[in-house]
Order: sequence, then structure tokens, then C-alpha cells
Amino acid sequence: MSHPYRDHYFHKAKKENYLARAVYKLEEIQKKYRILKTGDRVLDLGAAPGSWMQFSSSVVGPSGLVVGVDLKPIVHPFPEQVIAVQGDVFDGDFQEKLVNDYGCFDVILSDMAPATSGIRSADSARSELLFEEALRVTRVALKTHGHFLAKIFQGPDFHTLLTRVKGQFSRVKVVKPDASRKFSKEIYILAMDFKQRL
Ligand SMILES: C[S@@+](CC[C@H](N)C(=O)[O-])C[C@H]1O[C@@H](n2cnc3c(N)ncnc32)[C@H](O)[C@@H]1O
Repeated sequence: MSHPYRDHYFHKAKKENYLARAVYKLEEIQKKYRILKTGDRVLDLGAAPGSWMQFSSSVVGPSGLVVGVDLKPIVHPFPEQVIAVQGDVFDGDFQEKLVNDYGCFDVILSDMAPATSGIRSADSARSELLFEEALRVTRVALKTHGHFLAKIFQGPDFHTLLTRVKGQFSRVKVVKPDASRKFSKEIYILAMDFKQRL
């Protein structure tokens, strides 16, 4: 019997040596919106096991920088312009250290997701908190005109958060990539052209 989670994208990721099938969500968004460019500095929140780091570092190239952050250690060996940092995005001291150590970024990505409980309302509430925190990071660490792409499990605060994002960025899209499972409440908010850092 075939495994329910081992779909086309799972096998494709294995074949193409990506660390997770999640890579195809970013790849699809990149194909359409070109948010990453050669030489960009990218912050990837919730980066483990590292497929978005693999993909974004191949786009930004050796003149760029990718800093991946996760609660879990990222063990994959990356080239020197790709840095893995273990930490909690909710930790204010950690956020401050990140900005002190690496400065501001052209693109901030967040694929952060809570450890799911199976209770949809609880999972979406925790996902919304992670999204909100990632949005907070943009205010201290994203360059003016930079881009932000973040996952959210749609819950009751979705529209309030979307309105908040629209206040900060010139162009905002809600995207459900093909590689995102149809039954999942996960969706991505893509926010382009950050108006200004406070
Ligand atoms: C879906 S996975 C990310 C997959 C990744 N984009 C990739 O392509 O390999 C979500 C990650 O969010 C991380 N995460 C959840 N809460 C976090 C937090 N408070 N701070 C940092 N990372 C967090 C989890 O540990 C998990 O590894």
C-alpha cells in the first residue's frame, strides 16, 4: 500500500536530493514572482531540515547570504555563505542578536509551523502566532523594498493579519502552491516591496 504522505513531490525531492518536499512550494512561488535574486541576503525562519535553504542559496549564489533559523539543529553541510542558527524566533534576545550579527535582509521567509496537535483550531492559533512573530521580525530585519513570504494555517485572525501585512507592504498576494496538500489549511502570504522599517 502506498504511504499517504509519500506523494509525487516526496519522491521528486528524494530524486533531486532536496531535504524536504517543501522545496517545491518555494520553487513554484519563485518561478512566478521572482522574489529571490542573485546576491540577496535571505533570512529563513523555521528552516529545518533545510530544503528552502538549499533552494534559496542556489538562487542567491556565492555573493548572497542565507541564514536559516530553527528550534532544531540543521545538520546538513552547506557552503560558507549559508549559515544555520539554532534558536527560538519568539526569543527577543535571539532576534536582537540575529540583527546584530547579520544586519538586514532583502528577503525574509517563514515556513514555521507548530508541532501539530490534530486539533485544527489550536494548530491554526499557534500558526497565527508564529506568523505574527515572523511579521514582527520584518520590522527590525527587512530592508525597505524587501520581500516577505510566510506560511499560515488559516484561523480566525487570518484577515486581521492580512490587513496588517497590507499596511506594511505595497503588494500582497495569498498563495496556495500546488505542492501544498489540498486538505491542509496551510497557505502562504507573499508580501512584496516593504514600505519602510520603523
Ligand atoms: C515545515 S518545517 C520547515 C521546512 C523547511 N522550510 C524546509 O524546507 O526544510 C517547520 C519548522 O518550523 C520550526 N519552528 C516551529 N516553531 C519555531 C520557533 N518558535 N522558532 C524557530 N523555528 C520554529 C520547526 O522546528 C520546523 O522545523
